[in-house]
This record gives sequence, C-alpha cells and structure tokens, in this order.
Amino acid sequence: MRVLFVTPECFPLVKTGGLADVSAALPAALIQAGVDVRLLLPGYPAVLEGLSNIHEVGDLITDLPGTERARLVVGRMPDGTLAYALDAPALYLRPGNPYTGPNGKDWPDNAQRFAALSWAAAGFAAPEPYDPWWRPDVIHAHDWQTGLVPAYLKTRPDRFAGPYRPGTVVTIHNIAYQGHFGAHLLGELKLPSSCYSVDGVEYYGGLGMLKAGCYYADRITTVSQTYAHEIQTDDQGMGLQGLLAARVDDLRGILNGVDYGIWDPRTDTHIATNYDPDHMAGKADCKTELQLAFGLERRADAPLAVVISRLTWHKGLDLVLEVAGQWAAMGGQLAVLGTGEPGIEAGFRHLADWFPGKVGVRIGYDEGLSHRLQAGGDIILVPSRSEPCGLTQMYGLKYGTLPLVRRTGGLADTIIDATPAALYDGAATGFKFVNCTAQELLFTLRRALAVYRRPDQWDAMRHRAMTRDLGWDRPAQEYLELYRGITAEG
Ligand code: ADP
Ligand code: GLC
Repeated sequence: MRVLFVTPECFPLVKTGGLADVSAALPAALIQAGVDVRLLLPGYPAVLEGLSNIHEVGDLITDLPGTERARLVVGRMPDGTLAYALDAPALYLRPGNPYTGPNGKDWPDNAQRFAALSWAAAGFAAPEPYDPWWRPDVIHAHDWQTGLVPAYLKTRPDRFAGPYRPGTVVTIHNIAYQGHFGAHLLGELKLPSSCYSVDGVEYYGGLGMLKAGCYYADRITTVSQTYAHEIQTDDQGMGLQGLLAARVDDLRGILNGVDYGIWDPRTDTHIATNYDPDHMAGKADCKTELQLAFGLERRADAPLAVVISRLTWHKGLDLVLEVAGQWAAMGGQLAVLGTGEPGIEAGFRHLADWFPGKVGVRIGYDEGLSHRLQAGGDIILVPSRSEPCGLTQMYGLKYGTLPLVRRTGGLADTIIDATPAALYDGAATGFKFVNCTAQELLFTLRRALAVYRRPDQWDAMRHRAMTRDLGWDRPAQEYLELYRGITAEG
C-alpha cells in the first residue's frame, strides 16, 4: 500500500502547531506497520534546506499562477522518510511563518500557494505521472491547505484521470481554519465553473478549500471522536455541519497519538534530569530548574501550573489571565510559553510584572523550553473553547504533569476527571471543567490543589497518567483500515 501524505507543515522542518507533530509521527508509525508512505510538502526554505540527498523529479506542469519555474524534488526527512517538495520560489521562498507575512497577516496569495500544492499532489494520478514506479493508492490530505486535492482529482478528469485513481482522505485538524477565498479565483485556480455550487466548492458565497476537501474526498477523518460529533453541530460545524452530517458514514474520528521517541521523560535530552514513573526524583530537579528559568520562587511545595500554547481566543487563555491572581494567592505558581494574539501576549506580560516570583512568562516559540515546561510543571492548563485533539495534554500525561482541561474535543477523550469515584478507583488522570468561565476554571484549580495537598493521591494519579499508552500504534492501524476500505487492496 502506497500513501502520499500531503501536508503544509512537518516537524522538525516546519511547525506552527500539532499538525506538524502528527505529520511526522503518523507516517513513521504507518511505515512501521508496513505502509509505503511519502510526504509532499511546500518547498519553504526550511524544507529545501532540511531535506537531505535532494534530487529533481520533474517539472510541475500547470498553468496555475506562480508555478512557472516550479519543479518537484525529492529528498529525505531527518528521520529518513522520503519527502517530495514543491520547489516553487515565487510561492514559497519566503522566510518565517508558513502562512503569514512579517506583518502577521496571511499572505495575500495563500489561495494560489496551496492550490499549487494540491495540484502537485493530484499530479501523482495524472496519465503521465512524475514517477511511474511510485503511484500512490491513497492520497491523504491535511487541513484546508490541501482541500483542493480531491477537488482537482474529481473535477479535472482531463488532467488527472490516469489509469490508477487513488483513494482520497481528508483529515480535519481544525475546522476553524477554512481556507475561505473569493469566488473570482475559481478560473485562476483552474477549477471548472460547474463546481461552484453547494454540491461542490462553494462555501458561503466564496470558495471554501476545506469545504471542497470534505465534499470531494472519499473519506473524511478528524482527530478525536468527540470532535467528529462536535463538527456536526451548529455550534462547532462552522457551516459544514450539514455536509458532515450527510456524510457521516464516511466520517471518522481517530484520536492522535504521541511520539514517545520525542516525548518521554526517561530519554528526553532537553530536560534537566530524566525520570520515569518509578523514579520521580528527577522531576523535582526539573521543577527547580524551571522555577529558576522563569524567575519563580524556588519552592518545591508550590503547585506549578504551566501553559504551552498558541495564545489565541480558541485556546481559552483569557480565562487563565482572569484567575492567575487568585491562583497566586492560593500559593500557586504559573509559567507560560506561547505566542499569538497581541492582546493575550500583553495580558501575560502584565501578569508577570504584577506577580513577580509567582508568574513567569516567555513570549515566543521554543521547542526545547516546551519540553522543560512539560517536565518541570505539576499541572498543565488547556482550557480550550474548542480543541480538535490537543497534544500538549497528552504530553503532560507522559511527563506526570497532570492536565487540567476543558471538556471538549480530544481533551474530553484523553483525560479522566478526578471525581471522587475516579480518585477512589485509581482511574483519574487529570481535571476537567465544562463551562468556559473563569469561575469554573478557578473551582477546578481548587479541586486540583486539594489533591496536590494529598501527596499519596497526587502520586497515584501521576503514576496512572504516566503509564497510559497513547502511542501511535493503534491510530496507525485505524488509518490503515480506512485506507484499505478505499483501495482495491481492501
Ligand atoms: P495546536 O495544534 O492547536 O496549536 P496542539 O496541542 O495539537 O495544538 O499542538 C501544539 C504543539 O505546538 C505542541 O507540540 C506544543 O508543544 C507546541 N507549541 C505550542 N506553542 C509553543 C511554543 N510557544 N513553543 C514551543 N512549542 C509550542
Ligand atoms: C490542530 C488542532 C489540535 C490538534 C492538532 C493535530 O492544530 O487545533 O487540537 O491536536 O491539529 O491534529
């Protein structure tokens, strides 16, 4: 089984969030399971520099704007996975964030940039493919940036009706990002005008790239079961709830996993001292190191809550701003690493000024520091308004940094709340609240503090959390089963 995995970001070359982690770890797990997976990435500078043994595969034959000098190259990711890159200097040769320019705004030609990536993917099914010896059985597309892959395959048979039509899967990592553009782009992006319809790419009077993917793909997945239900509701469907509900037989929630090769306190090279569930002394060292790094009082008995997040409204971090003062008054500490909306960044900066020694804040993106926070914290806060899966709470489990989360999406599916029954039973792995209010967050912090003050209970919870297996083996099997269902091999 051959699978082309088309994604706009992939760790460690380019990462803005969890999609990058998934794009690295899921192919690796599928390869382990015997699937021949190759990646297709945009040729950002970091990708062209990061791939080893690059060589040219061929020109990209298209009349899409910006692709005049485009060519497809292939090389190896640092972990050895083969990756194609679309080398289109006019589209991707830009420094920094893959989606936004230096002013923090989306690049004005994002529609063209990601249409070209999708066209390049569809090209693997063309009658004269790039590589006649490697034709994918499945093209697995991720998020709105690749939503046009199934649309091109289905609506442009003149270009892409080769003898082998691959099955298509679209995975929704976050329905809040739709790839919504003006309808006037249809011609420029070489989509036939007939597909501008509710039964096609039309989305609220424009062109919807995620909508297109959900309409034309053979299968749709998203990254947790709860989110698969949520996106069929008016509240969280972002206008696609009708389409998704109509396609419910083709829609599946598959929970993400954790790459324990990278996220394991036993072997993590970023952290002060390694530890494991049965040898926890190292975690205390990590806490002290973190307190020093964030200018916090060096107190072993102060519960240290950490945040590692994009600082956006969706992530519910305004609630943390509201309760941080009371948390400090309860004896708690807070260490925050994140970057995002200017208002939330400013709010955290002020907090650090107002509560010296109790709140420490680092505005920025720092992979190594994120590991140190996972290792040194007692509690990881993930109060998201919506969270398709969420990875940081799963990393928190492995590091014995107990997640305190809002009950939504993957947060609901991965954490067992410390209710009295779950504590008694030894099943609890974290703390959950339901309504997105500062009051409920504060109440839940008080609940966590009550358990923290009972070291026997806290240690038992940590042990349970750290020994849960949320690796990629099971999800990889689920994807494999899904692929089999849409290929001749199945
Ligand atoms: P999302 O993809 O919505 O941002 P996830 O929880 O799925 O949320 O994934 C976030 C990923 O990005 C995790 O790997 C997390 O450690 C990482 N991350 C988020 N913010 C930062 C930051 N400021 N510095 C380093 N890593 C970060
Ligand atoms: C998105 C979601 C996040 C999920 C990640 C990986 O960024 O916001 O919840 O964990 O994709 O699937």
